[in-house]
This record gives sequence, C-alpha cells and structure tokens, in this order.
Amino acid sequence: MAKKVTLEKGRLKVPDKVIIPFIEGDGIGKDITGPTQKIVDAAIQQSYGKKRSIEWMEVLAGEKAFSQTGEWMPQATIDAFQEYIIGIKGPLTTPVGDGIRSLNVALRQTLDLYVCLRPIRWFKGVPSPVRYPSRVDMHIFRENTEDIYAGIEFMTGTPEAIKFRKLLEENFGLDNVRFPDSSSFGVKPVSKEGSERLIRASILYAIERRLPSVTLVHKGNIMKFTEGAFKNWGYQLAEREFPNHTFTWPQFEALKKSQGETAAREALANAEKEGKVIIKDVITDAFLQESLLRPFDHSVIATLNLNGDYISDQLAAMVGGIGISPGANINYQSGYAIFEATHGTAPNIAGTGKANPGSLVLSAAMMLEYMGWEPAAEHIYDALEHTFSKRKVTSDLYALMEGATLLSTEEFANEVIRNIH
Ligand code: NAI
Repeated sequence: MAKKVTLEKGRLKVPDKVIIPFIEGDGIGKDITGPTQKIVDAAIQQSYGKKRSIEWMEVLAGEKAFSQTGEWMPQATIDAFQEYIIGIKGPLTTPVGDGIRSLNVALRQTLDLYVCLRPIRWFKGVPSPVRYPSRVDMHIFRENTEDIYAGIEFMTGTPEAIKFRKLLEENFGLDNVRFPDSSSFGVKPVSKEGSERLIRASILYAIERRLPSVTLVHKGNIMKFTEGAFKNWGYQLAEREFPNHTFTWPQFEALKKSQGETAAREALANAEKEGKVIIKDVITDAFLQESLLRPFDHSVIATLNLNGDYISDQLAAMVGGIGISPGANINYQSGYAIFEATHGTAPNIAGTGKANPGSLVLSAAMMLEYMGWEPAAEHIYDALEHTFSKRKVTSDLYALMEGATLLSTEEFANEVIRNIH
C-alpha cells in the first residue's frame, strides 16, 4: 500500500510506494499533466521495476476547484501539501478581482516555501540564442517570501499613501520624493534571517553537488541596506558556517591587501583545486550581461526576489524558453516542496495538443531527485535529450528548428517514453 513521505529528524523519508498529491492546473495544465505522469511512471519502472512507484493523488485548485467547490484554493488542498510534504502542480489561472490573491503566492506563503529553485541547463538539439549553449549550467536560488513578494504597496491618492508620505516627511525628514502628490509607494523588506536561509540552502546545494561557485546577485550599489546587506550577510554566513568548504571574495581581497595579489591568486587556485565553493558577488545589471557572454563563470546563483524574477526568464530563454524550464518551491527546513511548471496556463493553445510538457516533466525529474530517486530522473533527462536531438518536438520548438518533426503533446510524451525504454 502506498504511504506518505515523512520527515524524521530533519530528513525526508520516502517510502518505495509513495503518495504524491498533484494539482492538474488550468488551461494547458490539463494537456500536460497526464503525459507527464506517464513519463515519470515509465522512468521509475525502468529504474526500479515494481519495487518503487508513485500513487498520484489529485487535489483541487484553480478553475476546477472553483467549479466543484466554489473556492479557488480549498483548505483541503493546502492541508494535503502539508500532510504529504512533496507535491507537484500545473499552472493556475490568476483569478481576476479584488481581494483574490494569486493562488501560487497563497501556496508559497502558507507553506513558507522560501526557495524558488530553477536549474538552467541546455539539452542537445534545443535551439538557443547563445553561441555556446552547452556551457550553460546554472542553478538559480530565488528568495521567495520577501522583497516585492511581501506586496507592501500604497496606491497614490489613497489615505494609506497620504499617511505613508507624512510618515516619511515627519518622522524621517525625507523630502526627496520628486512628485509627492501623485506618488504611489512600495516597501521592500529584506531580512537577515530570510537572506541567510536562502543563501545557506544555495551553499549546501553547491557543496552536495560539487558545484564550483555561488554568485550573490544584488543591486547593493544602490539599495545598500536591503540588497547590499543581502550580499554582506551572505559572505558572513559562508565564512561563519562553512569555513572548510568555501572561499569568499572578501577573503581573497583581504589576502591581496596583506600578502599581495600573487598570494591571493594562489590561495584562490588552491581553494578551487580542493573543491571549495567560491563565493562571489555581481551587481544585477552586470550579471544579466555576464550570464549571456560568459555563462560558464556562474554556477549557483543566490538572489533576491525581483532580481530572481528577471534572471529566471532570461536564463530560461538561453536554453529553449519557458516551455522547457522547470522549477520548484522548497522549504529546506520543513521539507515542504512543490514542483511546478514555470509557464502559465497558455489559454491561446489550451486543448489544441500544441503544449510542450517539458517544463512539467523536468520539474517532475527535479522532484525525483529531491526524493532521492536520481536514477529515474536521469532516465528522463537522457530520454528528453534523445528526443530533442532527433528533432522530434512540439510546436513551440518546431517553429525554431530546421528539419524538425512536429509532434502533439501526447505524441511527444510517447516518444520520450519509447526513449526511456
Ligand atoms: P503563459 O506562460 O501562459 O503564456 C505565454 C506564452 O508562452 C504564450 O504564447 C503561450 O502559448 C506560450 N507557452 C506557455 N507555456 C507553453 C508550453 N508549455 N508549451 C508551448 N507554449 C507555451 O503566460 P501568460 O499568457 O502571461 O499567462 C496566462 C495565465 O497563466 C494567467 O492567468 C497567468 O496569471 C497564469 N500564470 C500562472 C503561472 C503559474 O501557475 N505558475 C505562471 C505564469 C502565469
């Protein structure tokens, strides 16, 4: 009988026959969820025979939930993700109307899923706008609970905005708002705890996977006490908690000052040889340029919410776009994790068989890795690469590839399954 994932002494325990809750999703969610599950089941069977399997348990959210229960995100769904710890979801329509929060944001906040993890790797055969896509291998850790996600904003003209403006003027003596009468205001909270838990998770990820570096991406030259503090807290944390596993840029600078550049370079080279994770930082705008021109200089990226939003889409575009870029929202302390397609519901192609299931399939592969079922994930990566390199693709990639064969969502999934076997 299938059982739940549990958390014992801070470690996930995944039974061989495991129950995984899933949200089908709206729009193309219906088109890609079934095929994704078939691919995952085939990969597990190929790796473990009958020993391991997933029992998929549907939970409701979005339009399907609304039509059946009158609620967009029933409490039972949130409870299920809490009870079963690991889950997966298709895209959800953001309901339009006052007082209705984004369903994705509601889930992330309720479960305090503070890491948005987006691995960015290229699969052979996938069209890319960069010259050396094979050298793109980045892992974005985007902070998921603070910064703009806190949603503290006051619309111009409202009593709140007027009160807030007064607060700035009267309590802080600030009179540098250029057009005070027509200004809206936004507040950007960035905490030490919130930054540290995100950066700690990114360093642990790099150590566990033997990745060469963590880049702290920030706009601290302008926003000194939020983004600048994020960078400083990151360096301090690395030196305090991982002194034997990391070598930081401030340590390099200090050595350079005390013993000269040659000694500092030697220390850096030794740290790299010993497999230490190099902790460095880059200003966001420079990072966006560098990641295009020298993607091989960056491996794990730890960044705040808004930066992470921009970076995720640019990097996804470098390796084939949102149709094949996976994502996960994780709380590494409680173990809660929801793996999800990073694109939306694509209403323009829903029900036409044109959707690329790649994003959800790769998110499911991330889920298998998180569960410790890496061989099954590897089967999925290999089979997808094989399918892409044979130029058998769905319509989004077909439009960009010469000599490709156009497959429907279902046909693409069947081709991947054939390649798994
Ligand atoms: P979208 O991602 O749904 O679509 C943007 C474009 O990409 C469209 O041309 C679409 O056809 C294409 N596309 C997206 N996924 C594709 C796939 N798997 N295969 C082939 N083509 C694909 O973004 P849009 O139109 O801004 O949002 C539509 C709805 O989705 C909105 O209600 C939005 O709030 C919601 N949304 C939900 C997200 C989630 O649940 N995580 C994320 C983003 C948007």
